Amino acid sequence: MSRTRGLRGRPATRGRLALLTAGAMAATALGTGGMLYGTASAAAAACSVDYTTNDWGSGFTANITITNEGDAPLNGWTLTYDYSGNQRLAQGWNAVWSQSGARVTVEDAGWNATVAAGASVSAGANFSYSGTNTAPTSFSVNGVVCGEDGGGGPTDPPDPTDPPGDRVDNPYENAGVYVNPDWSANAAAEPGGDAIANEPTAVWLDRRSAITGGSAGNSTGLREHLDNALVQAEEHENFVFQVVVYNLPGRDCAALASQGELGPNDIDIYKTEFIDPIAEILGDPAYADLRIVTIVEIDSLPNLVTNVSPRETATENCDEMLANGNYQEGISYALQELGAIPNVYNYVDAGHYGWIGWDDNLTASAELFHETATMNGGSVDNVHGFIVNTANYGPTVEPYYTINDTVNGTSVRQSSWVDWNRYVDNQSFAQGFREELIRQGFNSDIGMLIDTSRNGWGGPDRPTGPGPTTSLDAYVDGSRIDGRYQAGNWCNQAGAGLGERPQADPAPGIDAYAWIKPPGESDGASEYIENPEGKLPDEMCDPAYEGNPRNNYNMSGALPDAPLSGHWFSAQFQELLANAYPPVN
Ligand code: BGC
Repeated sequence: MSRTRGLRGRPATRGRLALLTAGAMAATALGTGGMLYGTASAAAAACSVDYTTNDWGSGFTANITITNEGDAPLNGWTLTYDYSGNQRLAQGWNAVWSQSGARVTVEDAGWNATVAAGASVSAGANFSYSGTNTAPTSFSVNGVVCGEDGGGGPTDPPDPTDPPGDRVDNPYENAGVYVNPDWSANAAAEPGGDAIANEPTAVWLDRRSAITGGSAGNSTGLREHLDNALVQAEEHENFVFQVVVYNLPGRDCAALASQGELGPNDIDIYKTEFIDPIAEILGDPAYADLRIVTIVEIDSLPNLVTNVSPRETATENCDEMLANGNYQEGISYALQELGAIPNVYNYVDAGHYGWIGWDDNLTASAELFHETATMNGGSVDNVHGFIVNTANYGPTVEPYYTINDTVNGTSVRQSSWVDWNRYVDNQSFAQGFREELIRQGFNSDIGMLIDTSRNGWGGPDRPTGPGPTTSLDAYVDGSRIDGRYQAGNWCNQAGAGLGERPQADPAPGIDAYAWIKPPGESDGASEYIENPEGKLPDEMCDPAYEGNPRNNYNMSGALPDAPLSGHWFSAQFQELLANAYPPVN
């Protein structure tokens, strides 16, 4: 499962990225020079504009987010504002930018002309200047000044209605979390496994039969798990039950290891034989006091951004799933059906930093998530948050270097390892992506989860401090705890360890570190193994494989002789235990 894939392509896109990078230091620099303009209450063109800059002395990037604060959609928009200095437009994106004297005009690009009530749209541009770079003081959309007739003053992003029921902001706070007895028994049967067998891990519903149970890795059915949870909950004031919903039509379109039982067009089966029965069980009043955290469809939507034509990383399966719309349709349905249950907390899978962290993937992914959550009459209120790094290996925090480091004046973004990514680890990515999701229209109180089950990178090879500054690559390679060949590698990674133990509220914006991929369950096999689950051999699980565009043609780094995805892999469990960080005593 969970892979990564989808880096941006190799040389073809490199030039373009390099260009973006000139203006670069920008895109995520919310906060730097940020300001939020007031809200207008008039229905006509009520708007607010968030203007932020990243300034390097002789030039800057301006990032602009327009929010439609009115009750009706905007069909076509033109933003105007004035500079007071000699700021000169160089190049803009996501809109048609022009300048005449002090006046800057930003017209929608066509594809982003429609902005639903409460939704936002973003664009950016690079400017040169000398002297002082004073921010504009007034913005107009379609000729109406933003923030004039309404309350004025800073506003929060839209938060139209409260979610149904009594959902709390962070379900993990002051809560026990369900220990899956199936996983726990496997862990406890391993030498040394007792030390972690009581950690909470998620229950995976990865095919229809998992709902009733009785299959590999899923011997217990959903109702029985929930009944167990009620018993475990007796020891706690609040209690979280974590369940992964993972059975989309044409699942795992960029890889083979976790292809599933449903074909690309089986959307009706997905709805009626998978989501409906799950919703019925989760909605049973007997479970109303549990906080049910659903992890919705790993690795799906980001594949439609990064692994489709014309990118070099495209796969036929992902092209098909983009064209037939069934990933979006299925997720829209799942979010609405499950979101209607007051004690369900939907967290949508958002890939990881080594996939979505590049500029040309980040905003496009957030837009696609928003479009999916709100299509078919859906609402952002059905999305409690997002999860990153599910079943992946990217560090939560790289302790010895950050994205802001330079070596002899050159940014680590230019190193071979970072390769122009905007992030070096999942926590900074989760926090940055959260901001982007809110900009795209998700509620301002969404929370993020990080799957830390296998991203510990301890053991003898772990660096103990920053690398040498003899060269950029020496510094980054000497500093990074991530021991993979490439941040796009995902199958049974050699050298990995258990990561941070599950815990609530570890950092701002992060609801919890959680163990979603149960450590010891394989990511996939490299050779054909007969099975009824739809799983295929995947070269990324073969240690001798030399890679593909999605991992920039690097060695796979996989452990040998792995079983099918989801099946118990004792050798991997042992390695995860040995390389745990923090170590397991
Ligand atoms: C597999 C699922 C399994 C899950 C948890 C995924 O890679 O495809 O079948 O339930 O991992 O181990």
